[in-house]
Amino acid sequence: MDSSRPPLELGCMDPDPLRQFSLWLRQAEAEDVPMPIAMTLATADDQGRVSARIVLLRDLDPYGFLFYTNYESRKGRDLTVNSSAALVFHWLPLARQIRIEGSVETLSAAESDCYFSSRPRGNQLAAHASPQSRPVTDRHELEKRFEDVEHQYYGKEVPRPSHWGGYRVVPEMIEFWQEGEHRLHDRLRYRRDGHGNWLLERLGP
Ligand SMILES: Cc1cc2nc3c(=O)[nH]c(=O)nc-3n(C[C@H](O)[C@H](O)[C@H](O)COP(=O)(O)O)c2cc1C
Repeated sequence: MDSSRPPLELGCMDPDPLRQFSLWLRQAEAEDVPMPIAMTLATADDQGRVSARIVLLRDLDPYGFLFYTNYESRKGRDLTVNSSAALVFHWLPLARQIRIEGSVETLSAAESDCYFSSRPRGNQLAAHASPQSRPVTDRHELEKRFEDVEHQYYGKEVPRPSHWGGYRVVPEMIEFWQEGEHRLHDRLRYRRDGHGNWLLERLGP
């Protein structure tokens, strides 16, 4: 734990948790936290069976947290039937954790196109080649699929596959956690009141 960091106080937090998140992310970047944009994403299917995996936070806008994936993957299938999701960031060098819960919306085709076109060509081809979350016979099958796509788009721009794109996690709750002395950690939780405003309160650690 970095003991030089002062405890969290309600009065020092930004009234908007997305701005507060952005501030913490900038601090994590400034302190060279390895891959601070890696976040655990939990989803659940229509039976309530939960699964979790890491994805990368590709953008933050005033409404939420954006990531990109295959819409036909396990997470994509979960989100089609159950739009609830949770995210967790853990920044060990800062002794901080951020938990987010909310609902997920699909980005527009134009937004996904824009991000897809910014990706390296190899990643674009892989998005076509990989049947994410579905069984493949062996590594060779995967490489063969990649080569086929490479051949198909040789000398051409790679279009975004319709099964690949972005999601926005729109938060209903964001909790900022910071390690404290004697395990008296700080937990400051934002949640929406019935009128769309953010309420901020301290939780027991
Ligand atoms: C550091 C890291 C970053 C990752 N980023 C992404 C990502 O942004 N999008 C994605 O679809 N998968 C990403 N993955 C792979 C996922 O963890 C996961 O294996 C994949 O999305 C399939 O998950 P699913 O079968 O639960 O849908 C990443 C994995 C790691 C370890």
